[in-house]
Parts: sequence; structure tokens; C-alpha cells
Amino acid sequence: MKTIKVKSPANIAFIKYWGNHDPHLVLPNSDTFSMNISHCFTTINMEIHDDPKHKILAIKKYRDADFERANAESLSRFLKYYESFRQYFGVKKDIGFDIRSENSFPLKAGIASSSSFFSGMALALNHAFNLGLSERELSIAARLGSGSATRSIPDGYVWWHQGNDSKSSFAESLAAPDYWDLIDVVAIVSYGEKSATSHAGHATASTSPLYQSRLKELKVRTKEMRAAFEKKDFTKFGTLCEEEAISLHAVMMTQRPAIYYWNGASIELMKKLQQLRQQNIEAYYTFDAGANMHIITEKKHLKAVQKYFEAQPEVEELIVNYPAIGTRLIK
Ligand code: PMV
Repeated sequence: MKTIKVKSPANIAFIKYWGNHDPHLVLPNSDTFSMNISHCFTTINMEIHDDPKHKILAIKKYRDADFERANAESLSRFLKYYESFRQYFGVKKDIGFDIRSENSFPLKAGIASSSSFFSGMALALNHAFNLGLSERELSIAARLGSGSATRSIPDGYVWWHQGNDSKSSFAESLAAPDYWDLIDVVAIVSYGEKSATSHAGHATASTSPLYQSRLKELKVRTKEMRAAFEKKDFTKFGTLCEEEAISLHAVMMTQRPAIYYWNGASIELMKKLQQLRQQNIEAYYTFDAGANMHIITEKKHLKAVQKYFEAQPEVEELIVNYPAIGTRLIK
């Protein structure tokens, strides 16, 4: 029996993907930019079976002792992905499998668990069917499962090109993990699952009256962010990160139906981060689709950031992440 093992990181987006113009091919409305994160990852163990009817997905959640069979919703999303993958790459063969997927971080809490899972599955299926896909093709394969997954395939700091069709919408590494010692400290304020899936959010993003102006703004912000990244201008980079997160959440809160991912603790921590900056500790926030705050800082400020946030009553746990490599097979 063939077994494939894969480890794949989640990523934190500095420029976010929100809304698409083709939900099946997952084609975004702008470029996006992210960093793979070292301590939030998924490990996948896939056993291939001869009987195509044997299709099992089991998940071990953060801090759970054991694997549990995926619920009907997660299994059906995965099986849809499996079918899209085969169709996209013209794979006729159907296989059976026993997949065990384990997460090092809380699921569905705004830490892009779909990014590490679908990027990992793209690589696993590539090997299951012996397709020999290139990194670019793998990033496209991951995208079919979840937009953010496209960015977990390459190493380090990753750019997802919007493109104008499926072939041109792929991710590539802008810089290796050691290019810049940025850190993403995730401040967990809630282990609860988010109020709406990002899948549902993308579908109605454009109903926000702010959506079109966000897309216009993004053209400028994306260029500025890239320039700040190239110069390693952390003040500019961090300021743009915060503006981007606010623009994203303004759209979320004004789309129909409105989605509120933040809770009171998220807002308190945003204010506290501003206060920390007044003490000359440079750190900035960003949020994905969830209540948990990602604190972006440089290594030289890490100790001070940790000490300050560990003492805040809103914080349940801090997860410190360094820039990481992308999806890999493991022994
Ligand atoms: O990949 P999805 O469909 O889970 O969407 C990701 C959405 C955000 O995390 C909010 C932004 C991003 O680019 O990661």
C-alpha cells in the first residue's frame, strides 16, 4: 500500500483575498501577498487503497488526543475538491484513500486552516496520481480547494498573481524565509469557530458598497506594500498591513448579510497594540476571517511583544510564528 506524507504551512496574508469572479476556478479580484508561518501547519498522511469506494478523511484537531472522522460538510467539500482536481488535470483513474489530517493550531479560527489543508492535499494528490506537477501547477491545484492555499505552496514570502484566467492565477515566492525576520504572533482570544465561512463571505463580498473602492485602493496599496517589502521599511509595511486589515473588515461588516468576525477582545487588543507602539515597541496587527489577532513584528521586538500580550486578560494563548518554507513531502 502506498503512503504519502505531507507537511504544509498556513500563511498570513498582508494583502488579502476577498471575493472572486469565478467561484469554481477560484479566480480572485486582486493580487495578494503573504508569509508562510512556521508553527501553524497541517500534516497529512494519505494511504492509497485499490478500492475507489474506500474514501476516508479523519481529522485530529488542535489539542485533541485522537483522529475523528470528518463531518459530512468537511467530507463533501473535500470530495468536491478531489473531483475538481481530477477534472482539471484530466485524471481518469479513481482511487480509494484513508487520509489523516492533523493540525498544529485551532481550526476555523482565522488562521487559514484551509490554506494548509488544501495545499497539502494538492501535493499529496500530485503524488497519488504521479502527475509530476511543477510548483506553479501545484499552486493552481491548491487554489481549486481554497484561494489562500495557493500561497502555501512556494517558500517564504509569497505573491499570488490575480491573472486573467486559471493558468495565469498562480503563486510564486518573492523571497526565501530568511529574507526578513518578520514574526507573526497569533493572539488567540477565542477557540470558537468563526461566525461565517470564508467561502460564504467571498460569495457576497461584492454586495458591500465599499467593495469597488477597496479594489481601487488595493491597486495602490499593493504597489506600496511591495516597495516597502523590498526596502524592508517596517514602519511603512506595518502601517499598510493595518490599513489593509481594516479595509477587509469594513467590507465584511458592510456586505449583505454583514459578517462580524471580530469580538470585543479583538478590538481591545487593537487598541492595546497602538498603546504598545507609543512605548517604541514596533508591532502592527492584521486579521484574517476571524477574531484572533495576528501581531506582525520584527525579531528584535519579539520578547517585548510577548511579555506585553501574555499579560493581557483577553489573550488565551500566543502562537509565535517565523517565516517558513512551503508545502513539502515528509519521510
Ligand atoms: O482561502 P479562503 O477561501 O479561506 O479565504 C481566505 C480569506 C482571508 O484569509 C480573509 C484572506 C487571505 O487572503 O488569506
